[in-house]
Amino acid sequence: MDMNNYHTSVLLQEVIDNLDIKSGKKYIDATLGGGGHTREILKKGGDVLGIDVDGDAHIFVESENEKSSSLKGTLTRAVGNFERIDELAKANSYENVDGIVFDLGVSGHQFDTAERGFSFKSGPLDMRMSKALGVTAADLINGLTRNELVILFEKFGEEPFAKKIASAITGRRHIRLFHTTDDLADVIKRTVTHSGATHPATRVFQALRIAVNDEMNVLKSALPKALELLSSQGKIVVITFHSLEDRIVKRQFEEWQEKEFGKIITKKPITPTKEELQRNSRSRSAKLRVFEKK
Ligand SMILES: C[S@@+](CC[C@H](N)C(=O)[O-])C[C@H]1O[C@@H](n2cnc3c(N)ncnc32)[C@H](O)[C@@H]1O
Repeated sequence: MDMNNYHTSVLLQEVIDNLDIKSGKKYIDATLGGGGHTREILKKGGDVLGIDVDGDAHIFVESENEKSSSLKGTLTRAVGNFERIDELAKANSYENVDGIVFDLGVSGHQFDTAERGFSFKSGPLDMRMSKALGVTAADLINGLTRNELVILFEKFGEEPFAKKIASAITGRRHIRLFHTTDDLADVIKRTVTHSGATHPATRVFQALRIAVNDEMNVLKSALPKALELLSSQGKIVVITFHSLEDRIVKRQFEEWQEKEFGKIITKKPITPTKEELQRNSRSRSAKLRVFEKK
């Protein structure tokens, strides 16, 4: 595991400012990752329950925090899916918390580790955030019908060439099944020859990752549970990285506001500064939204 460059936190200062960290208060980081957001909260004396479904994140954060003497708050870690944020919080006495942060998607470590199968670098077509999940990206690519692939690429990838790509995949798998990320990326690259800054397989890879990890449903079910865990004036901060996720968060916050559960703090989402974009190109599509409970 690359311990030096696990993940560069996105919108770090913006998360901390919006959570308004106070010493002795309790916070939940639902996506611990490399622990960047968590560490800032701990430095300011807040206590944190750090959740991540991926064991690698916990190993990294534990070893990193041992080296640091500037952490005033205490960290409790819980391995698990934030879909069960209610159970994990209860089991660790983290009910009535002052703030909850979700920083969605994959960490730099997950993306850069070819064996995890998230990137175009040659690796198994896997994409599971946790090995406990049963279905891999290869299972979907080799097992879904052409029509199911079209729906998947359109729905979760907003891919304009979904039909063309699905036909190329089903044609090729008659000859040989797909096992690796670069093999799939190459077939897509040969099928869609659009020019643009992003790799032509980006949308299909996004769709597969969302499906393998059931990301949309998990997010939809976690948000109301998170609201329930907040004390009055507690805040939920969510960073999303694509429009499908952002739409779920935006709509949920609007519904809560209509029901007078609290108020939306960010009329428009907060996005990275020019300086952050230059420093970390992966922050490119990040959007941060904040809701305050009544
Ligand atoms: C973008 S990273 C978080 C980075 C972290 N905020 C930091 O500053 O280092 C997202 C993390 O969330 C985890 N994750 C994604 N979906 C999850 C889920 N449904 N439940 C728990 N963890 C999840 C991933 O394993 C990954 O480590």
